[in-house]
Amino acid sequence: MNSSITPKLNILKTETSRVKEVDFDNLVFGSTFTDHMFECDFKDGEWQNPTIRPYGNLSISPGAKVFHYGQAVFEGMKAYKDDDGRVWLFRPEANFERINKSAKRLAIPEFPRDIFFEALTTLVRMDKEWIQPGLGNSLYIRPFVMATQVGVSASPSDEYKFMILAAPAQAYYTGDVKVVIADHYSRAANGGVGAAKAAGNYGAQFYPTNLAREKGFHQIIWTDDSEHKYLEEAGTMNVFFRVNDTLITAPVSDRILDGVTRKSVIDIAKHNNIDVEVRPVLVSEIVEAAKDGSLKEIFGAGTAAVISPVSAIGHKENVYELTKPEDSYSARFKKDLMSIQHNITEDPFGWRFEV
Ligand code: COI
Repeated sequence: MNSSITPKLNILKTETSRVKEVDFDNLVFGSTFTDHMFECDFKDGEWQNPTIRPYGNLSISPGAKVFHYGQAVFEGMKAYKDDDGRVWLFRPEANFERINKSAKRLAIPEFPRDIFFEALTTLVRMDKEWIQPGLGNSLYIRPFVMATQVGVSASPSDEYKFMILAAPAQAYYTGDVKVVIADHYSRAANGGVGAAKAAGNYGAQFYPTNLAREKGFHQIIWTDDSEHKYLEEAGTMNVFFRVNDTLITAPVSDRILDGVTRKSVIDIAKHNNIDVEVRPVLVSEIVEAAKDGSLKEIFGAGTAAVISPVSAIGHKENVYELTKPEDSYSARFKKDLMSIQHNITEDPFGWRFEV
């Protein structure tokens, strides 16, 4: 439900900023938060009391439904500072639309556009000292919403809290990524919540990912849940394959997240006259391509991960190593994408949004 009258944004500023205490060269991803955060509660059928206040702990009943049924969704987006100190968001409309799509799937009420954008831009402006200029630096922004009604009856909450946190960030993956193809566990099923950024989608991957880590892999490339025949996404990122000079990625579906970086990579590739195939990707064709040498690159694409090249792919008992080619697509897309995000080049797509 949308509230018809936009409530005024309350602003409580911190008296002492923590920004000077931060070692921006040694950040652990998403664990140092800026001075302020945004919160807004859904009660009595409407979103109310939107407030930006100093970052701090919440007081929530242990009986809140989010703790029992995981009724929560989130987003990941970033702000960048250019060399002139101007601050830019990247395709924020796409994140706004997606959090409401995810919310709908989890029976969470829609969040109003005007409050979202006012809160987002005000928070980023208030904490802009926390954004470091320079390629690779950003402010990771985490909007999320959770069910706060007290009660363990298994039904949708009628109270929620929507929040936005911000954390200065550098790279999510520091080196190349080794992935393994799923052949037992699954991330998502048809008709399920795979396409939503539901909190539980990520928590459910931790156990199989730990098993993969024990074998030396960082991430799993998930496959379809029925036959493990098609390559889908890597959980924290969508995946792309370059076979000869063609770029291939799976179409979005009930099981695959409509990644903002994913769709940006597709547009950048097409803009560069690269052949792009968006179609189901067979495990067997990629394994064959790895064997015959036509598999040139695999990379992940996501807000946190940006573009992360894959250096090895495991399948059953075999591991196929990949050497980044000189004309690497992943390096090229990363450069093009980051140059747009940091206001270094023109933005032919209209993706930048000045804060
Ligand atoms: C993002 O790229 O924002 C993600 O969702 C990854 C996150 C789970 C770290």
